[in-house]
Amino acid sequence: MRRLLVTGGAGFIGSNFVRYWINRYPDDRVVNLDALTYAGNLESLQAIETAPGYRFVPGDITDRECVDRLFAEEAIDTVVNFAAESHVDRSILGPDAFISTNIHGTFTLLEAATAAWQDASQEQRFLQVSTDEVYGSLAPDAPAFTESHAYAPNSPYSASKAASDHLVRAWHETYGLPVLTTNCSNNYGPYQFPEKLIPLVILNALEGKPIPVYGDGMNIRDWLYVDDHCSGIDAVLQGGRPGDVFNIGGINEWRNIDIVRLICERLDELRPGTGSYQDLITFVTDRPGHDRRYAIDATRMRADLGWQPAHDFETGIEATLQWYLANLDWCDRVRSGEYKNYYQNQYGERTPIP
Ligand code: NAD
Ligand code: TYD
Repeated sequence: MRRLLVTGGAGFIGSNFVRYWINRYPDDRVVNLDALTYAGNLESLQAIETAPGYRFVPGDITDRECVDRLFAEEAIDTVVNFAAESHVDRSILGPDAFISTNIHGTFTLLEAATAAWQDASQEQRFLQVSTDEVYGSLAPDAPAFTESHAYAPNSPYSASKAASDHLVRAWHETYGLPVLTTNCSNNYGPYQFPEKLIPLVILNALEGKPIPVYGDGMNIRDWLYVDDHCSGIDAVLQGGRPGDVFNIGGINEWRNIDIVRLICERLDELRPGTGSYQDLITFVTDRPGHDRRYAIDATRMRADLGWQPAHDFETGIEATLQWYLANLDWCDRVRSGEYKNYYQNQYGERTPIP
């Protein structure tokens, strides 16, 4: 039986992971520490909130006292650190929170785990959930990122994640903390906050708003269904050795414009309007420092851990579309308030490219 501290478990991937874990390992303890920023939503956890092993704690990962108390009260043996500021565009508009949560927050968790795990047993694990964005941008024909690719982050978000990954590595090398790091590609699926590309496109289309495509729309991302990320983290927790790094991805590279068109085409069938949703596609000023291409080489996940994704893009995007269509009220609720200010700052002044 494991005793997990999941940070950021009310966010997109964290909430999918908490549900995943409780459904698979109902005897485990799962303590979810989340500051409930604009991106955190307890409604995403309704399905498991009364599960016997589950506890939600509102709190900040930069709060050492709070983290220490949880290690002591709950005899935590496994940390899965999802808590982060996660949106590149927000990191460009205001990087402060990224430095605080992603760097100082990870540092706080590392210090607390090092202090709490003085009697090291083989079972303790600190898993840092990171991103392929730390590797920077790939040329069109360059091989996909392996675990030994040099870090070259380009946005305040990816730089802050890179910094936290370096801290995690150092706490292993220096203090012997049993850490694991996963670098995953872009996730999509249910409960993703609708500021990220896929849910933003779905909702703008349904609401008849312009669908903003940055630059020429030819930037490439490697998309993984969120449940496959959860099963990948599970595989790393079970089979990874302290200090290991794993790249998680689904060999699923798409140009942004092709994804946007695909979603519009499918919505034309599922929710036909007067014209095609594609008419709403609007090319707008590019994101500064916009990475051209990400692609993950997940050979190590397959070879060492036997992991592979269960969803292909066709089934994953269909499940995602169906989920958003059935949960438009969730979208309304998470977008109320603060998000409206963000949307105005991000897109209000953005010049459409004719
Ligand atoms: P998200 O923005 O949806 O959720 C982040 C969660 O962290 C929210 O619930 C928020 O309330 C919480 N949080 C923020 N600051 C906090 C703090 N100081 N203390 C406690 N909780 C805090 O993010 P996500 O998309 O679910 O990403 C989760 C993790 O996975 C992040 O570390 C991100 O870097 C990483 N990741 C994301 C993707 C992706 O495509 N979304 C891909 C690879 C890796
Ligand atoms: P996003 O979902 O923000 O993820 P990330 O920047 O972490 O990869 O964006 C995915 C891609 O879609 C990225 O190349 C930027 C682009 N994009 C748009 O073209 N328009 C948008 O409104 C958004 C949010 C993203």
